[in-house]
Order: sequence, then structure tokens, then C-alpha cells
Amino acid sequence: MTTPGLENAQEPRAVSQSQVTLARVMEVMDANNLGNVHGGVILRAVDTTGGTCAARHCGGPAVTAFMDEMAFLEPVRLSDILITKASVNWTGNTSLEVGVRVEVQRRGSSAHIHVGSAYLVFVSIDEAGQPTPVCPVLAETTDEQRRFREAQLRRDSRMNLRRRIEQLRSEESN
Ligand SMILES: CC(C)(COP(=O)(O)OP(=O)(O)OC[C@H]1O[C@@H](n2cnc3c(N)ncnc32)[C@H](O)[C@@H]1OP(=O)(O)O)[C@@H](O)C(=O)NCCC(=O)NCCS
Repeated sequence: MTTPGLENAQEPRAVSQSQVTLARVMEVMDANNLGNVHGGVILRAVDTTGGTCAARHCGGPAVTAFMDEMAFLEPVRLSDILITKASVNWTGNTSLEVGVRVEVQRRGSSAHIHVGSAYLVFVSIDEAGQPTPVCPVLAETTDEQRRFREAQLRRDSRMNLRRRIEQLRSEESN
């Protein structure tokens, strides 16, 4: 049986087909003890937006496998509009990297302030929860092609780090 939306799983899919933007006004429930927005609220929005983008690209469920370090460049305040924008940077066999840019629009201003960016790896899963192939992403613009190349570098670095840690653990257990 074919999963709905995955009929053409190997057909390349353009970045623009799965891009997602979410926006939400920050409320009292989102505050930390200092009265600004709690970092966890921002991380949740990043994961939700990235996951929605990944699921759109995959045409089915995708789970978060990895989240790169994220710098918080500016505080997010109550009553700001938190805007998260996600797009697919890179696809592998069963995994894909999604980049999420976080911006705020302060009350009474139309300007968007960049408050952080993060890169997340999602894995496409089947009905049994097992990794399943993703369709390749089609990087069309020069920016998309640059992001694809940079994502490949991050992928190589993550895999290299994982291999070195596994090797160290196996040496220490012998
Ligand atoms: C993500 C998960 C499905 C991967 O399962 P797995 O058995 O390790 O799968 P594999 O080793 O075959 O790896 C599958 C893909 O994920 C990638 N991957 C796995 N762990 C990774 C990590 N820590 N960082 C980057 N990529 C990773 C692999 O490189 C591979 O990519 P590729 O097929 O494109 O080459 C599994 O670890 C899992 O279910 N984790 C929990 C997910 C979760 O609950 N997330 C939070 C809520 S959504």
C-alpha cells in the first residue's frame, strides 16, 4: 500500500513546495522569570515549524533526530509576534536538514528583527516507525544551492563526530 502523498517518493521536490512560516503573538504564559519569553517556547516553535516543513516535503511523518546549537541574538518580549520560517536545505537517504530562521516583530513596528537560526535533522518514518526514503530536494536558486552545499558540510561534520564518539566509547569499553 502506498502512503498518501508518497506516490512519487523519488521525484525531486522543490524547496518552495514545503516552505512554512508560522507566527504567534507572545503571551504571559510564554514568559520566563525575567518577564521575557522563555527560550523553550522559542525552541518549541522552531521544532514545530521545522517538523511541519519536513512532513510537507516527505508527504508523511518525520521525527526530529538532531537539533544544532542555536544562538539567541535578541530577547523576545511579551506582545512581540514570533515568526518562524522553515525550509528544506538538504536531503539524504532517509533524513533531511531543515533550516529555521526566527524573527520578531515588536508591537507598533513593521520591522522584522532576526533573533536566531537553527538547523534540524528530521528522519522520514513509515507506519512502523522505521526510517523510509525521502524524495530528493531540488535546490533551484543560488541561495538554495549555497544552503545545500553548507548543509552537506554540517552533515559530514555530524557524522564524523558521531563516528569518533562511537570509536572512543568502544576503545574505553575494551
Ligand atoms: C531518528 C530515528 C528514527 C533514527 O533511527 P535509526 O535507527 O538511528 O536510523 P538510522 O541509523 O538508519 O539513521 C536514519 C537516518 O537518520 C540520520 N541520523 C540518525 N541520527 C542522527 C543524528 N543524531 N544526527 C544526524 N543524523 C542522524 C542517519 O544519518 C540516517 O540518514 P540518511 O538515511 O539520510 O543517511 C530514531 O533514532 C528515533 O526514533 N529517534 C527518536 C525521535 C524522536 O522521538 N524525536 C522527538 C520527537 S519527534
